Amino acid sequence: MAGDYGKVKEDIKAILKKPDYDDGSLGPVFVRLAWHASGTYDKHSRTGGSNGATMRFNPESNDGANAGLEHARAFLEPIKQKHPWITYADLWTLAGCTAIEAMGGPQIPWKAGRTDKDPKNLTAKDVPPNGRLPDAAQGQDHVRDVFYRMGFNDREIVALIGAHSLGRCHSDRSGYSGPWTYTPTRFSNQYFKLLTTVDWRKKQWDGPLQYVDEDDELMMLPADMAVLWDPEFAKIAKEYAKDQDVFFKDFAAAFGKLVELGVPRANDPGNAPKRSKL
Ligand code: HEM
Repeated sequence: MAGDYGKVKEDIKAILKKPDYDDGSLGPVFVRLAWHASGTYDKHSRTGGSNGATMRFNPESNDGANAGLEHARAFLEPIKQKHPWITYADLWTLAGCTAIEAMGGPQIPWKAGRTDKDPKNLTAKDVPPNGRLPDAAQGQDHVRDVFYRMGFNDREIVALIGAHSLGRCHSDRSGYSGPWTYTPTRFSNQYFKLLTTVDWRKKQWDGPLQYVDEDDELMMLPADMAVLWDPEFAKIAKEYAKDQDVFFKDFAAAFGKLVELGVPRANDPGNAPKRSKL
């Protein structure tokens, strides 16, 4: 039935488990897809964001920050074929939210209604430029610049980065390597527990600077360490390490806000395109 998002959700859940892929789940890469599709938003120009599903198009599809997400998009393609009425923009964000829930995380508020940009009428300004997503090699000033541009505050930033309880870095995608936690397919506050307690040291290798625990099993990016080294961020990270319920509540609200960025809603004039008369 056209418009049955519950059925799409069931189909997304059904493909998550994949024993021969990474740690056995497509969940983490779906969360990254939803986040990167949304995180291009610029509140000043009101451009970018999840509406449009513009990651299908150059230059966004070729942004180095999006390396590997072509796999996530391909894994979702059979679901798009089965439910052709759903837009890619809705499907990608719904997949991220569904994956978080299915991996033990909080329920994320999600609403349908995103549209897809038509490739036939595409102009250069419809696709966000490269460089809007955070650079993992940088510190707190950069992290703040990028997330403030999307419209987030410090508490929301720290909550969102807690998604690194999931998944891993791939040397053939970002150049970094390894998971952040021992449970990369469980959504939890493990990331904050480890970030704030482990004795992190520089990894000895030829790759980009990253931090590892003494057994070289777990990792942190320089941008993750910024959360520990910045006093404001660190205070929030310690709170989340102690109290998973507070983290879940804050994360659900922040991720729900993330996937709404740039989505015009009739009842929210501030978020609507300038041309609309509300
Ligand atoms: C993976 C950077 C924030 C969710 C990654 C990777 C990098 C990265 C370099 C590895 C990609 C790969 O090699 O496959 C950053 C930086 C951030 C940030 C610099 C901000 C300062 C976020 C946020 C979310 C998120 C806000 C979601 C709310 C994920 C997930 C993965 C991931 C789930 C694992 C993907 C997989 O296993 O395939 N991130 N990230 N990240 N990121 Fe982030």
